[in-house]
Amino acid sequence: MHFKYLLLAAALGVVASAQSLMEALASQNTSLSALNGLLATQPDLLSSLGNATNITILAPSNEALTTFLNSTAGMNTANISGAVTALLQYHVLNGTYHNFTTRPEFIPTMLSNATLANVTGGQRVEATRNGTNVTFLSGLVERSLVSQANINFTGGTIHIIDHVLTIPDSVSSTAVAANLTSLIGALTQLNSVNSVNALRDVTIFAPSNAAFQNIGSALSNLTTEQLTGIVEYHVVNGTVGYSSSLSNETLTTLGGKQITCPQPKQHKRNPRTNRKRHLSRLLRRQLRLFSTVYFWYFGNDDDYRRPDWCGRRSYDVD
Ligand SMILES: *[C@@H]1O[C@H](CO)[C@@H](O)[C@H](O)[C@H]1NC(C)=O
Ligand SMILES: *[C@@H]1O[C@H](CO)[C@@H](O)[C@H](O)[C@H]1NC(C)=O
Ligand SMILES: *[C@@H]1O[C@H](CO)[C@@H](O)[C@H](O)[C@H]1NC(C)=O
Ligand SMILES: *[C@@H]1O[C@H](CO)[C@@H](O)[C@H](O)[C@H]1NC(C)=O
Ligand SMILES: *[C@@H]1O[C@H](CO)[C@@H](O)[C@H](O)[C@H]1NC(C)=O
Ligand SMILES: *[C@@H]1O[C@H](CO)[C@@H](O)[C@H](O)[C@H]1NC(C)=O
Ligand SMILES: *[C@@H]1O[C@H](CO)[C@@H](O)[C@H](O)[C@H]1NC(C)=O
Ligand SMILES: *[C@@H]1O[C@H](CO)[C@@H](O)[C@H](O)[C@H]1NC(C)=O
Ligand SMILES: *[C@@H]1O[C@H](CO)[C@@H](O)[C@H](O)[C@H]1NC(C)=O
Ligand SMILES: *[C@@H]1O[C@H](CO)[C@@H](O)[C@H](O)[C@H]1NC(C)=O
Ligand SMILES: *[C@@H]1O[C@H](CO)[C@@H](O)[C@H](O)[C@H]1NC(C)=O
Ligand SMILES: *[C@@H]1O[C@H](CO)[C@@H](O)[C@H](O)[C@H]1NC(C)=O
Repeated sequence: MHFKYLLLAAALGVVASAQSLMEALASQNTSLSALNGLLATQPDLLSSLGNATNITILAPSNEALTTFLNSTAGMNTANISGAVTALLQYHVLNGTYHNFTTRPEFIPTMLSNATLANVTGGQRVEATRNGTNVTFLSGLVERSLVSQANINFTGGTIHIIDHVLTIPDSVSSTAVAANLTSLIGALTQLNSVNSVNALRDVTIFAPSNAAFQNIGSALSNLTTEQLTGIVEYHVVNGTVGYSSSLSNETLTTLGGKQITCPQPKQHKRNPRTNRKRHLSRLLRRQLRLFSTVYFWYFGNDDDYRRPDWCGRRSYDVD
């Protein structure tokens, strides 16, 4: 009797772990019928995903997908076949991830079409676990929560998420969405919005509006050359510096000058309150995800003309 049950369980186990991607998606049709419908319009993608191994699919639930398709962004996406493909590619992680770490991971996706992403190895999604909850952060810091984990198939696993991921937008659109009006103003004044948007694999340390205001009067007196120098000093070329990977590292900016970033575990006293703060938490709070590149965002005390602003003063904020 027990033996029979064990055999049955073993048989079911084998069937469950050996199911193909199509079978796995079909088995979840109550939550994934909308996604299955959308995938049916993408036969080439579906075929290549079906053949792929070592992947993780972040599958938007029916509710997530219908909400998205009913939004302006969703309607714009649905009308362009290439855009739907790209969006779905952004939901496929390179690697089989059954679980995630409490330290944020920036995981490469299958989205590497240079029209939409200029990050070598594929645009990233940030994954973090808190207790049993797993959250993904995508473009413009949009959040998606896993509602059902580990629907396994032969080539990897599927996690159902409650919110469609947002493909990171251009530098300028991301800066506009993050209200970095002074930065946009500086780029516009320099006529370099388009050239900054076309950069590959860069990190931007985006000064806040307040940081620009601190040198506001001086700003209006700067020559184009000086303003260019300041902007270039905030762009690190050739390195996408995610918060989990930057630590006391020396980076070369566009202008050729070097900056060093602080150790993530460093503590520093706030001069006003004399309280110690935990730097890594401050950095996390301040960073602004994402663009085709990666944004950090610093508060009001940073004087970015100082060669060591990144290491010394940038975290002196409230
Ligand atoms: C997937 O594999 C099948 C069978 O081997 C093959 O016919 C098909 O062309 C492959 N699709 C892609 C996109 O590689
Ligand atoms: C779609 O959005 C409109 C307004 O934005 C709303 O009135 C409508 O209920 C939504 N439909 C669905 C199916 O969510
Ligand atoms: C890249 O994306 C664009 C815009 O969505 C699309 O027209 C193009 O076909 C895509 N290229 C590839 C190689 O998928
Ligand atoms: C997945 O990542 C590996 C490196 O970890 C890389 O060699 C491979 O090309 C990537 N696959 C795709 C489809 O991007
Ligand atoms: C799966 O992909 C991850 C990330 O690219 C890689 O580190 C790992 O070695 C791959 N595993 C296999 C079995 O290919
Ligand atoms: C990627 O870089 C190319 C070449 O610089 C540029 O034409 C394209 O617009 C960039 N794509 C994005 C999404 O920024
Ligand atoms: C994890 O969740 C707990 C409870 O919801 C919350 O208090 C805490 O701030 C979360 N931690 C992070 C790093 O988000
Ligand atoms: C996990 O998510 C649930 C539902 O959103 C929430 O009630 C709970 O507090 C979260 N737990 C943690 C540790 O964040
Ligand atoms: C992920 O790991 C945490 C901590 O070990 C555990 O509590 C959680 O249940 C795991 N989640 C899954 C889906 O396995
Ligand atoms: C999927 O595979 C992982 C790793 O082998 C396992 O921990 C998990 O329980 C499996 N999921 C299901 C639903 O069987
Ligand atoms: C940008 O500013 C507007 C208006 O001041 C505000 O409603 C919005 O929440 C701000 N967005 C961000 C990301 O700070
Ligand atoms: C800007 O230039 C004007 C005129 O040359 C001068 O009066 C003013 O002091 C300068 N402001 C700063 C902050 O250097």
